[in-house]
Order: sequence, then structure tokens, then C-alpha cells
Amino acid sequence: MAHLSAYLPWCGGLDDRSALVSEAMRLHDAQTLGHCARVSAISLCLGRLLGHAGRTLDTLMKAGLLHDVGKLSIDQKLLNAPRGFTPEERALVRLHPQHGFDLLEIADHEQFQEVSLIVLQHHEQWDGHGYPHAMAGKDQHPLARLLAVADVFDALSSPRAYKPGWHEARIRDHFARQRGCQFDPEMVDLLLDNYAPCVAAREGVPDIPPAW
Ligand SMILES: [Fe+2]
Repeated sequence: MAHLSAYLPWCGGLDDRSALVSEAMRLHDAQTLGHCARVSAISLCLGRLLGHAGRTLDTLMKAGLLHDVGKLSIDQKLLNAPRGFTPEERALVRLHPQHGFDLLEIADHEQFQEVSLIVLQHHEQWDGHGYPHAMAGKDQHPLARLLAVADVFDALSSPRAYKPGWHEARIRDHFARQRGCQFDPEMVDLLLDNYAPCVAAREGVPDIPPAW
């Protein structure tokens, strides 16, 4: 099979740990890895617009690529089910930030400490109604607040088995209504003021075929 780096040209020289974990995600569910690759590219775009560079961008790139690694603990058929989750399934899915954190902590690598923290917090919300720890406002890591916007932007833009991809006006309306609720208002403004480059970053990511 083609090496994953062929589909992730913006990642540059992906370190061995990140490459190995990404390949494992691809074996489990290429659709989820495709989402993660797009979130990585969108996060990088937003990070550059904020003036980040070097190590911070590298951390963002890896956090985007690995943010849903905890979904390795969830059956692939459930992840892509053409329906909503039952309460029991939803509770299981909501464990994935903690599972991702626990997995990446094993890497015991200084940069992964920050990546794993962003992974843990990517479903926290500005208003404190997120999970797993109901953190509010700036208690959430700043790069996790950025990634949370990139994550939902891709999820809404993408067709799923249970929904079509949303058009721009509907996505803009969603973010405007969740500004200061689900999302950091500054991150929402950054996205909405730079919508076209974020779309270009997302659409620049090639489809990643299943590993088998
Ligand atoms: Fe997630």
C-alpha cells in the first residue's frame, strides 16, 4: 500500500510515533483518519493566521492528525453508522478524548505531552458544557480551542452516512450562534473572517483510501 505520507504532504517529515499511530488509525477506519487529516490542515491554516510558527504549528499539525485516535476503541461500524447513537453508544463515543490522551501519554515524549493535552480537551466547550471535564473559557488549552473550531468546521462541511455536507451559509450561521457558547469567540471570528482559505486548506487534502 502507498505510504501514508503520500497523502499528507503538508505534514512534512512526520515523526515515527505520529506516522505509526496514523497508520493504525487508517487500518481501523480510513474515513476517521481522512477527517483528522483535514482537521490538521485547517488547524494549520488557522494557526498561521494567528501568527504561530515552528514548533507550535508542528504541535497543531500533530494534534489535528491524532485528535480522534481514541476512536480506535470504538467499532468501525458504529463510527460510520447511518443513524444517530443510542444513549449507551453516545456514552461510549464520549470516552474517545480520554482514550486518546491515555494512548499518547504512553509515547512519553515532551511534545506529545502537549499534543495529548489538546487531544484530551478537543470536545471541551467555551461555556463549560463540553466533555470530559466540563472546562470553561480559557481553562481549555488555546490550541484545543482552535482545534475545536477546525474539527466542527470539517464535520459540518463533510457528508456523512446520516447527513449531506452543509453549505457555507448554514455553517456560518451555526458558528455565529455558537460564538461564545460552544466555541471561543476569537476562534469563531478567525474562521469566519478567513473562510475561503480554510475551505481551500480543507479541500487540498486528498481522500485517503483504506489500508486494506
Ligand atoms: Fe473527537
